Amino acid sequence: MAEKTEYRCDLIMFGALGDLAQRKLFPALYQLERAKLLAAETRILALARDRLDTAAVRAKLEQSIRHHVPREDMEEDILEQLLGHVDYMCFDFSDTDSYEHLNRWREKGGGALIVYMATPPSIYGMIARNLRHRGCCDGSTRVVVEKPIGHDLASSKVINDQLADVFNESQLFRIDHYLGKETVQNLIALRFANNLFATQWNQNHISHVEITVAESVGIEGRWGYFDKAGQMRDMIQNHLLQLLCLIAMDPPSDLSADSIRDEKVKVLKVLRPITPDLMETHLVRGQYTAGTSEGRPVPGYQEEEGVSPGSTTETFVALKAEIQNWRWSGVPFYIRTGKRLPEKLSQIIIHFKPAPHYIFDPDQKHLANNKLIIRLQPDEGMELQILTKDQGLDKGMRLRQGPLELAFSEAFSTSRIPDAYERLLWEVMKGNQYLFVRRDEVEHAWRWVDQIMTHWEDQTERPKRYAAGTWGPVASIAMITRDGRSWYENA
Ligand code: BG6
Repeated sequence: MAEKTEYRCDLIMFGALGDLAQRKLFPALYQLERAKLLAAETRILALARDRLDTAAVRAKLEQSIRHHVPREDMEEDILEQLLGHVDYMCFDFSDTDSYEHLNRWREKGGGALIVYMATPPSIYGMIARNLRHRGCCDGSTRVVVEKPIGHDLASSKVINDQLADVFNESQLFRIDHYLGKETVQNLIALRFANNLFATQWNQNHISHVEITVAESVGIEGRWGYFDKAGQMRDMIQNHLLQLLCLIAMDPPSDLSADSIRDEKVKVLKVLRPITPDLMETHLVRGQYTAGTSEGRPVPGYQEEEGVSPGSTTETFVALKAEIQNWRWSGVPFYIRTGKRLPEKLSQIIIHFKPAPHYIFDPDQKHLANNKLIIRLQPDEGMELQILTKDQGLDKGMRLRQGPLELAFSEAFSTSRIPDAYERLLWEVMKGNQYLFVRRDEVEHAWRWVDQIMTHWEDQTERPKRYAAGTWGPVASIAMITRDGRSWYENA
């Protein structure tokens, strides 16, 4: 690892008292401090509208770090060290004059300037303009922005244009926090460091792919945002399509940000549009009704606090994506994601085709083919399901299905699995964009999602109902069953 002083930085955080900063960013900064990855000279300027002083803000941050960092990771001296890096300014983001204070704060610094906009995307443009107007940024400033970048292609272009007015693409770090998850990065290692998989990774050997990102939580206080977005915009347009790209892309020529992102864009460009004639067979949208979650009764979406009855926003999507290229011709990617499903579970399953000529007991032909299961959460790991001979003299050549398993937490028990935001903040400090989303990726993803949304909006049909605590509408099971397959946990 390079000397930590190489990554000395001045971090200005807009929206530093908001939910994201409190829940994710400061706990992540604490862990970076604990891992000795923050240079001693690191300076963090927290900005928010609240009339507080630095001492009060440090006390507030201390509370949220204690709340969000596991007790066993809490070290008093580290916490004190981190809080020592933090200054606070009560700041009106729209007041151009206030930005002058940032220049004064910078005078005492010296590291790379990182601006983190932990604010609603609607004000990214305004902040960027004010930064430029007051000369608070230059060609070396790095800018971190969060999703959602727009609501559709047109609105994402507006936000991207506003940012591009002030910054070059090489300065922009668009977060999709799924890219910071350890297993997601491991996908790159798995695919491109193991020739075993490289040669099998195509339509000759793979029959289909499943991607499930299930959450047991409901909307819980986020209705204002969620009802306008829905699961398609909230999860598919970004996280799920990013996972699909990492599984489907061709090998990049190296690990540079642009080589990887060029390959991902190629996949997005050849996703078959889900046109109205395919809606019936390729797409299911659902909305949860009252049910049970983790053993307790929970209300339906229509009864959540703040929701206007009659909302047709989808809380579940299942779809069949097809990638129109040589590698993936005829290999469907079944994708599903939803709120209020039975458990929090994210996994990718690569289903391999059967051996070309079967020589074992015909009674066992039904045994599943090889599967590679990549678990993102809750317990990160990979499992390769293989067939072996059952042990024992009396078993003859009976086959048995079993896993070759790698559970990261057991295999690498000395190290904790870092949260996605730790990795992402660290990469910003290093100036490495490979885990961030480029403008054309965002826009191609929106283009594909937009055509689906347009047809949905024209439809009068309501989303299909599913009871909270179940795996989504029956139609999502029918969608995959029609192709003679089943979702993994329903198998
Ligand atoms: C966010 C979505 O991007 O991802 C949320 O807006 C969702 O609705 C969350 O709950 C899921 O992230 P994770 O890391 O908990 O799977």
